[in-house]
Amino acid sequence: MTLLKVENLSVEFQTNDGAVQAVKDLSFELERGHSLAIVGESGSGKSQTAFSIMGLLAENGRSSGRVLIEGKDILNLSTSELNTYRAEKMAMIFQDPMTSLNPYLRVSEQMVEVLVHHRGMQKWEAMARAITMLDAVRIPEAKNRVHMYPHEFSGGMRQRVMIAMALLCEPELLIADEPTTALDVTVQDQIMSLLGDLQKEFQMSLVLITHDLGVVAQSCEKVLVLYGGQLMEYDDIKPLFASPSHPYTQALLSAIPRLNQGDEELNAIPGDPPNMMNMPKGCPFSPRCAYVAENCRTDRPMVAPSGSGLRACHKPKGEFV
Ligand SMILES: Nc1ncnc2c1ncn2[C@@H]1O[C@H](COP(=O)(O)OP(=O)(O)OP(=O)(O)O)[C@@H](O)[C@H]1O
Ligand SMILES: [Mg+2]
Repeated sequence: MTLLKVENLSVEFQTNDGAVQAVKDLSFELERGHSLAIVGESGSGKSQTAFSIMGLLAENGRSSGRVLIEGKDILNLSTSELNTYRAEKMAMIFQDPMTSLNPYLRVSEQMVEVLVHHRGMQKWEAMARAITMLDAVRIPEAKNRVHMYPHEFSGGMRQRVMIAMALLCEPELLIADEPTTALDVTVQDQIMSLLGDLQKEFQMSLVLITHDLGVVAQSCEKVLVLYGGQLMEYDDIKPLFASPSHPYTQALLSAIPRLNQGDEELNAIPGDPPNMMNMPKGCPFSPRCAYVAENCRTDRPMVAPSGSGLRACHKPKGEFV
């Protein structure tokens, strides 16, 4: 059953220099209890997609299209309806744990407050539940550590605390926006597989946002590749890795660092990300695409079915792999 359905989502920001088109005509669905990674370079519109779903866009931003949760369009909810939805249906994990943790309060106080406020629990009951959640995110000695302040945890453990906070009200949809960027590689791997495990354990739907295609294999079933705020490719993780059907996905995959590769051998994608105030007329990736043809520069490719997924590219799939 579909939990989240995004239809023709566009996000535009008004700035002193003109309008910024951060997301354009984006559509995708997420089934209940399934996981989706949204991948793309910096500035490709990943966070603004997430913020639109959560109703957290900046003041100067406007989203259009539809974001349906269980069939209800949340772009049209009043602030108070949206607050209830946010508390009961969805939660978001941010890149920096300190965005959602208060440095001056013990973890126990913060978790208890959420449960008393949103779930109407008694304090003792809330405390027991807080400890259970810290256990669930594999924090050793949760019973003692629940009384610590956020700064007393290591980076990886603090990120786990934040995941536990996000799970407190048992959201049906969890959005994790670059949850591991500030962490070293080993810890990153642990957090990614933890998220994958929790998604199954709690039967949530998970949207995992990252610029690194290399980290999603262990935690997600499907991948949505964004470029310049637009869908380039969408597929199950296996076919996407085995035979990417879009030149941008291919470029992203070859940019994944490998352990036996020195830094100097890293394949960064040549060229610069698009200017979101002045997008190319045709395919947004055309100025950097190794397979660019004349029509790519003039006509925007439509999103169309391809194998088990979707792609937006003029080139027939076989022609560039
Ligand atoms: N408040 C704002 N006003 C104007 N432009 C904005 C605003 N917020 C975001 N943008 C622009 O929207 C575009 C998409 O931003 P978004 O935050 O979604 O990128 P992202 O894919 O999450 O990148 P990163 O990997 O760096 O987090 C960027 O060009 C960004 O500069
Ligand atoms: Mg972002």
